[in-house]
Amino acid sequence: MSRILDGKEVSASVKAKVAAEVEALKNEGIGVGLAVILVGDDPASKIYVANKKKACEATGIKSFEYILDENATEAELISLIETLNSEKSVNGILCQLPLPGHINEQAVIAAISPNKDVDAFHISNVGKIMIGNFDFLPCTPAGIIEILDYYGIEIAGKNCVVIGRSNIVGKPMAMLLLHRSGTVTVCHSKTVNLKEITRTADILVSAVGKAGFVTADMVKPGAVVIDVGINRENGKLCGDVCFDEVSRVADSITPVPGGVGPMTIAMLLKNTVTAAKRQNGR
Ligand code: GUN
Repeated sequence: MSRILDGKEVSASVKAKVAAEVEALKNEGIGVGLAVILVGDDPASKIYVANKKKACEATGIKSFEYILDENATEAELISLIETLNSEKSVNGILCQLPLPGHINEQAVIAAISPNKDVDAFHISNVGKIMIGNFDFLPCTPAGIIEILDYYGIEIAGKNCVVIGRSNIVGKPMAMLLLHRSGTVTVCHSKTVNLKEITRTADILVSAVGKAGFVTADMVKPGAVVIDVGINRENGKLCGDVCFDEVSRVADSITPVPGGVGPMTIAMLLKNTVTAAKRQNGR
């Protein structure tokens, strides 16, 4: 059976460091604040936003929540972001994605001040990540690197295969693994012979969003398998990976829930503290 890579344990250690840094800043008279914006009432997004708020409170970060109606206009949303950009007590701004179809996501992301862009989605931050000189790292890929480091899993020289090419996970994940000297392949819906490629992976990251997508025959014996999927099947939360069969083949595996998910929030808090420090000349 595989070793379980426990995201709850790793995230607790990140959050403890965040809480200590928040406390130290408070003692210098500096508060740390995160604004979270939710447009509409997508049930999954509502849960994510509630979890982010809870995590802020637990680490001493002040959370400001803005819930806009499903029919809010792009101009209204951008106007709110502009207000938050100049609000001193707000160090980080996160607009929960996806947005309703009538709003241009890229226009909204572009409106967030790059200094407060704790998701690292703004093109200025994406460009900085590309050249390896960054302030913030995107939360989910950064959380995965944190898990690998925590468990002493070497990345340099390893064959790393990422399934999925989204701006939120797949593309930045590939870049971070490359920065750590992995040999990286990105697979996607048009990839031919997917299984042949995934079987070369020493580190396999699945960010597809389909339950049961990664089966044991796609995994090289002894591989490290990271499951980014958050899928609901018959009301039950599950990842992209067929956990039972893959855990008989892999060396190490992240569970769902309790793997990558808790890391995303922990890294968001870490980015918010980084933002507060930068904005206060620390
Ligand atoms: N939707 C799914 N994941 C994320 C994330 O990391 N940040 C934001 N803003 N929206 C998301």
